[in-house]
Amino acid sequence: MMDGLTRDPFREDVIKGLGQRQKAIPSRWLYDEKGSKLFDEITELPEYYPTRTELKILGDRAGEMADAIGPEAVIVEYGAGSLLKVRILLDALERPAAFVPVDISASHLEAAADELTADYPDLTIKPIASDFMASNLGESLPEAAGRRAGFFPGSTVGNLLDAEIHRFLSNARADLGDGACFIIGIDQPKPPRILVPAYDDAQGVTAAFNKNLLTRMNRELDANFDLDAFAHEARWNESDSRIEMHLCSLKPQTVRVAGESFDFQDGETIHTENSRKIALDRFAGMAEKAGWSLSRHWTDEKGLFAVMLLEAD
Ligand code: AVI
Repeated sequence: MMDGLTRDPFREDVIKGLGQRQKAIPSRWLYDEKGSKLFDEITELPEYYPTRTELKILGDRAGEMADAIGPEAVIVEYGAGSLLKVRILLDALERPAAFVPVDISASHLEAAADELTADYPDLTIKPIASDFMASNLGESLPEAAGRRAGFFPGSTVGNLLDAEIHRFLSNARADLGDGACFIIGIDQPKPPRILVPAYDDAQGVTAAFNKNLLTRMNRELDANFDLDAFAHEARWNESDSRIEMHLCSLKPQTVRVAGESFDFQDGETIHTENSRKIALDRFAGMAEKAGWSLSRHWTDEKGLFAVMLLEAD
């Protein structure tokens, strides 16, 4: 519970978002404790191909990635999760000097970093508890003989808007400095018959992940959403090359949230997430505007997912 003086960004985003013509709530609010657990479950679903495809690409091609990065590098992982993926890279690198996981959750970071320390005793590990969108990490990065390499797996870049991608890549370019490189995993465009089930699985885990946002608003914002009166929807938006998650009202209804009322028509939705599928040439253009060149990429045999290597201009 917030007092009257403290800013509550969740409340602000929800009140603003539910007041829009197309109701929308930024996708970062999907990740409370329950939401993060459900997302972990999603990554194991048979329909959700991105995680296992990216892991396979990393497993098969980490040697080439390590050669491109070079010895004694400082690896900076943005939005570091379980640190499973970076282990594959660290194992392939020649004498990596330091690893800097950047994550908003300090407790999560500490636990993951402790585990890593046990397995990589010679590696300097310097966690930074910060939003990965923040800038000015540069001064906190350790010095080393090798170069700095950003690492941003998982296609989280696809959950950002164009302006956010630009800000993120520009900040990373400034923080990592001249001579840096950046390894980024991005899900690729493909037919909706593959995409839609990946975001609307048979077991209903993605539906539970999306509807957990209603539970979170009920709990944290004193809202009265009836979970049975909303349905999970995954839509393919072809012109914007993105999967959209929505919560669809199954009847006309009025919901109270943080002391305010919001009307829903039958079929009206709250847009809760974009998951963009950004093709190589399009991403190359975005990277260029932020001071990076796409120098090469690795993909799986079906071209479902791409791991891209950017070099600082
Ligand atoms: C975290 N992010 C890359 C996931 C995605 O595929 O866009 C989030 C997700 N939403 C529903 N399923 C997975």
